[in-house]
Parts: sequence; C-alpha cells; structure tokens
Amino acid sequence: VGYVGTSNGVDAVDVVLDGLSSLEYRGYDSAGLAVPTPSVRVHKTEGELSALENTVPRDELEGALTGIGHTRWSTHGPPSDVNAHPHRDEADRVAVVHNGIIENYQRLRDDLVDAGITFQSETDTEVVPQLIGRYLDRGAAPEEAFRLAIDQLEGSYAIAAVFDGSETVYAARQDSPLVVGLGETGTYLASDVPAFVEHTDRVCYLEDGDFVRLTADDAVVTDAEGNSVDRPIETVAWDPEDAEKSGYDHYMLKEIHEQPKALRQCLRGRIDDLDGAVDLEDLADLDHEGPVQFVACGTSYHAALFGAERLREAGVRAQAFLASEYASDRVPIDDETLVVGVTQSGETADTLRALREAARAGATTLAVTNTVASSAARECDHTLYIRAGPEIGVAATKTFASQQLALALLAFTLGDGPTREELEALRDIPGQVRTVLETTDARAVAEEYVDADAYFFIGRGYHYPVALEGALKMKEITYRHAEGFAAGELKHGPLALVTEDTPVFAVVTGDGETARKTIGNVKEVEARDAPVVAITDGESDVTRYADHVLEIPAVGDLGGSVLANVQLQLVAYWVANLLGRSIDKPRNLAKSVTVE
Ligand code: G6P
Repeated sequence: VGYVGTSNGVDAVDVVLDGLSSLEYRGYDSAGLAVPTPSVRVHKTEGELSALENTVPRDELEGALTGIGHTRWSTHGPPSDVNAHPHRDEADRVAVVHNGIIENYQRLRDDLVDAGITFQSETDTEVVPQLIGRYLDRGAAPEEAFRLAIDQLEGSYAIAAVFDGSETVYAARQDSPLVVGLGETGTYLASDVPAFVEHTDRVCYLEDGDFVRLTADDAVVTDAEGNSVDRPIETVAWDPEDAEKSGYDHYMLKEIHEQPKALRQCLRGRIDDLDGAVDLEDLADLDHEGPVQFVACGTSYHAALFGAERLREAGVRAQAFLASEYASDRVPIDDETLVVGVTQSGETADTLRALREAARAGATTLAVTNTVASSAARECDHTLYIRAGPEIGVAATKTFASQQLALALLAFTLGDGPTREELEALRDIPGQVRTVLETTDARAVAEEYVDADAYFFIGRGYHYPVALEGALKMKEITYRHAEGFAAGELKHGPLALVTEDTPVFAVVTGDGETARKTIGNVKEVEARDAPVVAITDGESDVTRYADHVLEIPAVGDLGGSVLANVQLQLVAYWVANLLGRSIDKPRNLAKSVTVE
C-alpha cells in the first residue's frame, strides 16, 4: 500500500494501516510501514497487523503526508522483525516494499556483498534498496536510481519505494498486481482496490513493465524507457467483500482458478534447463539413495499417494502412510530412510508427530510445505516449498495441485532424472489447467446430479489418489456421501452400493492397459444402470459408455491426473454451490488441525 496526501489529506499512517487491514485476506506473517519525511523512518514487526499497530509511535509520525506499507507472506527467509518489509539501503535513504519473488537475487546479493554492502535480512527483497543505494552513491537522482535498480531484476514484483525527504512514491510492476487510486485529497497505490476504495473509486490498473510516480495530485505512468504511457482511468463499483475474492463468489473458486499461476510459481527456476536436471535449490544438500516414506493427512495424503507412485516409477522404493496411523516402531526405519511429511500448512499435529518419531528413529526428514518457517519446515532436516501462495478456503485445492508438481520434481531428483519430453510435459501443465478452467462443463454435470444419493469416484495408478481426492472434496463441501475407490476394487464390494441414483466419476487417460482395465470397471457400473461421468482426454472409447464427459487435454497419465482433479474440484464446488453450502468454511472442519 502507498499514499501521497495533499496537505488537507488523511494521515498517511492511517491510510496505510487501514489499507493493509483491507488486504488481510492475502495472508501475512509480518507487517511494516515507512514514511519518508523529514527523513526515512521504518517500523516493522513479525506477526499480525495488530502487532504493527501496537508498535508504531503514532505521535512521532502524526501528520505524515506520505507512506508505504506491506504485509508479508514469506517466500525467502522466515517471518521475523528483520525480514519484514520495508527494507532499506545501508545509508537509510530509501525504503522499499515488494510482493513477488526476485529470482536473480542471489547473484545480485553476491555482487553487492562483494562491493562491501552488509545485508540486514535474509529476504530476496533487500537487494532492491541496496541496489538503489548503489546508484544513489554514484550520483543518480532518486527516480533514475529506482529505474536502474528495477532494470536489474528478474522475477515477479510489485515494488514501491520512498526516498529521504521526498513526498513521492515510486513503483513498478511485473507479474504482480498493482493499482493506482486517484482521490480528492491524495493518490493511492495498492496490490488490490479494497486497500483504498473507501477513499476513491477512480482507479488505474498498471500493466507489466509499467513504472509510476505518485505525487499528491497526480500519477504519471511510464514504460521502462521513460516514455509516458496512457492507462485508462476507470470507476469501480466495489463491494469490498467481493474485491477480496477478486470477483469470485468464494475463495475456493478463486483458488481453483489460481492454479495455473500457482503451478507456474512452483516450477519457476526449477526446470529451466530442459536438457538438464531438475534444479531444486531448496534441496541442494540432500543426497539420498535409500527408501522413502511419506506421511500426511487428508488432501496431502492423497498427494503423498501420488508422490509415492511417482517415486516408484522413478525407481525409488516409496510408500505413503496416513500420519495418524504411522508409528515408527512398527514401520521399518533406519538412517537410510527419508521420511517426507507432506503438509500444506506445516502445522498438522498428526504429521508433525510422525515426522518427530521418524527423526527419533534416525531417519532423515523432509517437509514438503506451502508455509515458510512453519513447524514442519523448521523441524525437518530439509524443506521443499510448493509455492502455491496463501490458500484461504478450508478445502485444499491449489495446494494439492502444487504438491503434485513438487513431488513430481522430487521424484526426478531422488530417482531417475527427467527426459526433455518429461520436463516439457511438466512445463506445459499450468497452461493446460487454464484450458480446463476455460472449457469445463463441470457446472452442467453438477446441475444434473445435485440430487444424487451418493457420488463414487474411480481411477487406477495416478488416478487412484485423484479418485480419493475427488470424493474428499465432495464430502467436505457438499456434506453428501461420496467415496473414492481403486477402480479394480469396485467389484470386490462397493459395487453393491451402485444404483441408478449414484453417479460414478471415472478418470481415464490414454488408451493403454490401465485405461482398458478402468473401462472394464466402467462397463460393470453401466450394467447396473448407474450414470457414468468420464473425466478423459478422449484417447480411449470410454466416452461410449459415459452419460457425461468432462474433457481434459491429452497429456499422459501424470499430467492427466492434475487436470482431471481440477474438473472434480469444480464438480464438488458447483454441487455445494447449488446446495447453498458454506463452501469456504465447511461445518466441523478447520484449515489446519493442530491436535492429534
Ligand atoms: C485438515 C484440513 C484438510 C487438510 C488436512 C491436512 O484436516 O481440513 O483439508 O488436507 O488438514 O492439512 P495439511 O496442512 O497438513 O496439508
């Protein structure tokens, strides 16, 4: 959030703090603000916004006209006072806040350290003010120094900076949202409109590559070369509730649609060399040859089943356990064993306990998590971040897809390395998820079967965990009976439940033996008059036996399982929506369960 007020404007510290609180839904672990006049002053702290509100010396800052503020959701460096934004250069001439990831920060940081600069934090962001400082040292004016520094960055960013003694905010955007608000008594800047919508409804959305200079009565947008750029000024009719969900009715639907971005983020920098190995910087010092055991709960357990299958395919002995059923004294473990806790929150008590037991028994431990500096990340020997971004809906969606991709990357690291085709296939998944989101008929299928007695899901191989996950999503948010089965198990009992009022969702990709066997099971279901919904790439003739088809691009079994799962997320979402359920906060459930 940024603000430059006119002399009869609103107190800048108020604007910044209120703005940050309206963006609370973005999730945060630390917060901070800076005012530039008469000299740059920064206040920041680990924890929620209330912690910042309690530390800011309101008297000292009273009457500030200009300010920037930030709430952080860690990607590099755990949440702490020093890692909170804003960050400064060594001589305190500039303060910077940043959303996104600076991918080349390590190289920039090394260069700056070589030049004698001492860094305060472990963040990628701090290279920005330090770089700006270098250009100031060389005599550049603030705006020029800002542009020169931004020019060095690779990655995604929305960045805002204030300079000593100046009532101006400079900002730049690349792949992270940034919007300007033009008010009667000042100019605003934020990642999202709710941060300032109480002050103005006249907004101007910045685009990638844009720079902006905010003063009290103007916002000048330019491109990288400094040429002025016209961005239309729009009037927003804004319900702050809606805004937080970017126009979606529920966080869950928003997060389902965020999957292409989440997956790109998961892959970023990790498969750049399509002819080489997967580059998991997080695991640079993990050198493991022995067996692998996964421990996880709920949706993460389904990702673990998928991961174990993928590792086995890559030639690694691997098995997945429900964390609550895992006891290291009954599962053979030794110091050759790697135990991988899959947990998006990093705080699930069952999973933490299993990891602790494994560590005690001598295993090496690895956390695969979405949450930087979570308990799992802190306690395990190694951590692999899935980088899905904050997930607010209680039912996990984008974190599952990101776990799938992260575990596929892990398999290439621990087992057989990838071929170029395999890496290309991974790289293409985010775009294919987008195709599914744009073309899905999930809503029509949900309308057809909203009154069903129960929902069954079947799949084999990589699609078995997807069948389990499809059923879990359905249970969690619709409160309807749903079960997932290994397709081959249907005939060993569950077939007794199948009637004309129980749709069976079958995941079938390709036209190989796995597909043919699942189609055999589909025929068993069809013979009992149950409606069949095929989630398929159309490579086999399963569509002949299906009442409805949810199409996915033909990308093989592994990628197909990611895409099929997106279709099933949407079916569950629309059934729950039609039933009027509390989709983001289903009854009796919590996002992260910290008791065993
Ligand atoms: C809770 C949530 C589930 C989640 C499980 C594991 O039960 O309701 O949606 O899958 O915890 O969470 P984790 O954070 O460990 O992935």
